[in-house]
Amino acid sequence: MRRNLPTLAALLVLGCPVEPDNGPSEQLLDPETCAECHPQHYRQWLGSMHAYAADDPVFLAMNARGQRETGGTLGDFCVRCHAPVAVALGKTTDGLNLDELPQSLKGVTCYFCHNVESIGGTHNNPITLALDNVMRGEIADPVDNPVHESVYAPMMDDNVLESGAMCGSCHDIVNNHEVHLERTYAEWVDSFYDDPDPSNPALKNYYAQTCSGCHLPGSNSPIADFDGVKLRRLRDHSMVGVDIALTDFPNATEGPELVAAQRALMEVQRAPAVCAGLCVRPGDEGGTDVVVWLHNEASGHFWPSGATQDRRAWLQLEAFAEDQQILKVGVIADDASVAVAAAADPTLWVFGDQGIGVDGQPASMFWDIADYESNLLPVAAIAGLKYDKTTWRERTWHVEGEVDRVAIQLNLRPIPFELIDELAEEELFDAAAIKARIPTFSVAATHIEWTPETAEMTDLEGPCVKSASCFDVIAMDE
Ligand code: HEC
Ligand code: HEC
Ligand code: HEC
Ligand code: HEC
Ligand code: HEC
Repeated sequence: MRRNLPTLAALLVLGCPVEPDNGPSEQLLDPETCAECHPQHYRQWLGSMHAYAADDPVFLAMNARGQRETGGTLGDFCVRCHAPVAVALGKTTDGLNLDELPQSLKGVTCYFCHNVESIGGTHNNPITLALDNVMRGEIADPVDNPVHESVYAPMMDDNVLESGAMCGSCHDIVNNHEVHLERTYAEWVDSFYDDPDPSNPALKNYYAQTCSGCHLPGSNSPIADFDGVKLRRLRDHSMVGVDIALTDFPNATEGPELVAAQRALMEVQRAPAVCAGLCVRPGDEGGTDVVVWLHNEASGHFWPSGATQDRRAWLQLEAFAEDQQILKVGVIADDASVAVAAAADPTLWVFGDQGIGVDGQPASMFWDIADYESNLLPVAAIAGLKYDKTTWRERTWHVEGEVDRVAIQLNLRPIPFELIDELAEEELFDAAAIKARIPTFSVAATHIEWTPETAEMTDLEGPCVKSASCFDVIAMDE
């Protein structure tokens, strides 16, 4: 292992000595220290859910309630992932004292990810930190600097497939009822993204895509504002998904701007995530069948993934005949509940997991969920998507008479309003303000419109349209 001990001269200049192997220096624990030399990484991280993980009002309310309802047996289960450095340093055991801790110990910090020594499992954050002053990364020949030592670690290198285990260890949750509640890592491991290309292991076309390969896109740039550095790959640390900050980010001056930046990046990442096919054909016994196909096209795991017990995605579909609307499904106002809409319309096509309690009734709190029902868009196990029909999902709506225009789009809401209301029953919590900030997203590629003019004849047995980004829906083997 190569270690770059800072020179004495450099230490004197900065006036802040490093104490190698004597536990982490206070300075290195604090992301603001990194900002001095890694300003881009710092700013991107500051506007990420990692920075926000222990400030998230929904997290705080849910942890408080969980501690109460389980008589404290929840322990460090939640904070282990949402404030892992505070747990590793013994500063919290249950997350109930987070407001007394310095901001530098909250959330998934720079120090946490860059100090991973070993990973002892596949879920519930089994990571052991080295608790030294060495920052691990993907660079084998780092330039010396006076604040930290640097070392190459394969689990930080997106060219190494096993690096998925670092991210995966938190992005995979088994709860107190042994329910595999969040499965992002397991989904990725079972997908083709976690495999080398069988025809040529050197290729990374569709195969061999790690979490960081997709979620930390790189650009050519120096990675530190420091003398003697060269051009490297600078990885974007925004790491967006589907959650947004429901209050401004903790940084008061830049908070609102960071929320806007987070949303803009999400839209780009989400745009091609799912693709759709839309066919309109005569029904077997008269009338018209409107057939919709959906396929997880670009997520390296299921869609949605992660906190699927809370995610709610649904198809919006509107059909017209001579400008008269004859079918309307899933047109849900931004301030209306998806659950209420689903109860009122059994033809609504909803994706997500429904948690079920020990009593067999719907359950929404982590620690109450003893089972679940799942309807998600799976990720393929083999590449060459068009042959893997098992990963497509299909649904048909029937209308009487003819149809001359159909428009669809796939929508997604990260957290249901009901969960916020349920938490607000007992926690100090501004439910109205939080609900007002819960967005409704839409997957751009699925916004497609069918008319007799735009449709093409295909072997899906009728004139169809599909997302421009789709692989060939049409050539799928029956
Ligand atoms: C959730 C984990 C995580 C957090 C939090 C995190 N990083 Fe990283 N960082 C990574 C990974 C993974 C890589 C390597 C990416 C690769 O190889 O594709 C990386 C790479 C880097 C690099 C090497 C250059 C580059 O861009 O690849 C620097 C420098 C860096 N991070 C600094 C920081 C700083 C500063 C913070 C906090 C402000 C931070 N990181 C927070 C995971 C993290
Ligand atoms: C005094 C400037 C300075 C500070 C402060 C600083 N770094 Fe660095 N860091 C550097 C330099 C210089 C490099 C090497 C860049 C290169 O070789 O291109 C580096 C490299 C890294 C790497 C890559 C290591 C590798 O071998 O892959 C990581 C990760 C990293 N820093 C994280 C951090 C984190 C996290 C913090 C805050 C806790 C931090 N740095 C604070 C200057 C600094
Ligand atoms: C210490 C545990 C931990 C590790 C390690 C970790 N994460 Fe996270 N990650 C979290 C937590 C906790 C959140 C959510 C915070 C919240 O919403 O309150 C999160 C959020 C995210 C999100 C946003 C999710 C959303 O729906 O908005 C993405 C994307 C993400 N992480 C990717 C990564 C990647 C990529 C890596 C590896 C480089 C990684 N994470 C490593 C704990 C971790
Ligand atoms: C092939 C690219 C790719 C790979 C590989 C990948 N992701 Fe993703 N991920 C995406 C896309 C695209 C989305 C956005 C989906 C959306 O917003 O509709 C996403 C979304 C997410 C989310 C938010 C999901 C949700 O619905 O709550 C998390 C968390 C996440 N990824 C973590 C990971 C982790 C951890 C890994 C590795 C185990 C990983 N991703 C591997 C492309 C990828
Ligand atoms: C193994 C790590 C881990 C544990 C344990 C964990 N979380 Fe998380 N949490 C995450 C990750 C990762 C995300 C991001 C999920 C995603 O987008 O897929 C997240 C997201 C969240 C969110 C925002 C998304 C949503 O709608 O749920 C809340 C709230 C939350 N966690 C609360 C909790 C509470 C409360 C506990 C304890 C009962 C807990 N978490 C335990 C890793 C963890």
